[in-house]
Amino acid sequence: MKKEYYENRVCIVTGASTGIGFALSKALLEMGATVYMVARTKAKLAEAQEALGVYGDRARIHAADVSDNESVRQLIDNVFGREGRIDFLFNNAGIGSGGLTEHASLKAWKRVIDTDLWGVIYAVHAILPIMLAQGSGHIVNTSSIGGLFPLPYQTLYCTAKYGVVGLSETLRHEMLPRGIAVSVVCPGAVASEIFHKGGQKTPAHAISPEQAAIETLEGVARKEGIIVVGDDARHRYDLLLHDPEGAEQYQKAYSQKRYETFVLGVKHDW
Ligand SMILES: NC(=O)c1ccc[n+]([C@@H]2O[C@H](COP(=O)([O-])OP(=O)(O)OC[C@H]3O[C@@H](n4cnc5c(N)ncnc54)[C@H](OP(=O)(O)O)[C@@H]3O)[C@@H](O)[C@H]2O)c1
Repeated sequence: MKKEYYENRVCIVTGASTGIGFALSKALLEMGATVYMVARTKAKLAEAQEALGVYGDRARIHAADVSDNESVRQLIDNVFGREGRIDFLFNNAGIGSGGLTEHASLKAWKRVIDTDLWGVIYAVHAILPIMLAQGSGHIVNTSSIGGLFPLPYQTLYCTAKYGVVGLSETLRHEMLPRGIAVSVVCPGAVASEIFHKGGQKTPAHAISPEQAAIETLEGVARKEGIIVVGDDARHRYDLLLHDPEGAEQYQKAYSQKRYETFVLGVKHDW
């Protein structure tokens, strides 16, 4: 991995107490970065910091709720006030959702969009003036393969994640001549708590958060726009780019399996 791209850099990683965000933080610390690890639950953040004690005071924690603009602004102000610069912003925090769309309450819609899309918007809004004044910086937004490919019965989630791809890709081209890099990460299944929180089993093909972090940071160091993580997700994305008919066939079979799972209650292995 390109250690020099991350060494001595100031990074913010949201959703860093568990899963992909924790693995990203650990990999960044290993490469010599200072990492502000962000999540809502202080106790889980403290546990994560303790687990990364070997990196000393380069592993820092800050409790914030990305769905609250004031909380995000305080986070950015606090880190910038302390460090005088912010090199990387990893907007990784997110929540899952699944089920029949007609059963989703507006409250559920709002919760998912507030976290998974507005959480990214608030942070981007707060960081852009800082990075533009620096003339450098890299914003890395976590979407999902569900931000490129439809996942039926996860409409709320995909609405937010497609939004994150649109935001990231548009901003990437806008910022390219101005010294700021923007990437969007689109993982397939990653074995994290997100599945348990949604009452689901982790899919058998899920990769580890550590593997997801490696693939992400390699793509970020290459300044890739869209970083698709995991073989399964890459296979689907390749179909989308190079074989539209194959992508349609894949999607039909996948959607049928999901229909059987979510509507007919058939037990499939995922
Ligand atoms: N795992 C997968 O298969 C997969 C696939 C594609 C994309 N992703 C995306 O990858 C990202 C990380 O997911 P993960 O699988 O690592 O999930 P995870 O293990 O459930 O971790 C989620 C993290 O986000 C934090 N978080 C949740 N809501 C927050 C909020 N409002 N403000 C601040 N922090 C918040 C959680 O801590 P608190 O609850 O304490 O705040 C936790 O640290 C998400 O954006 C997810 O959508 C995951």
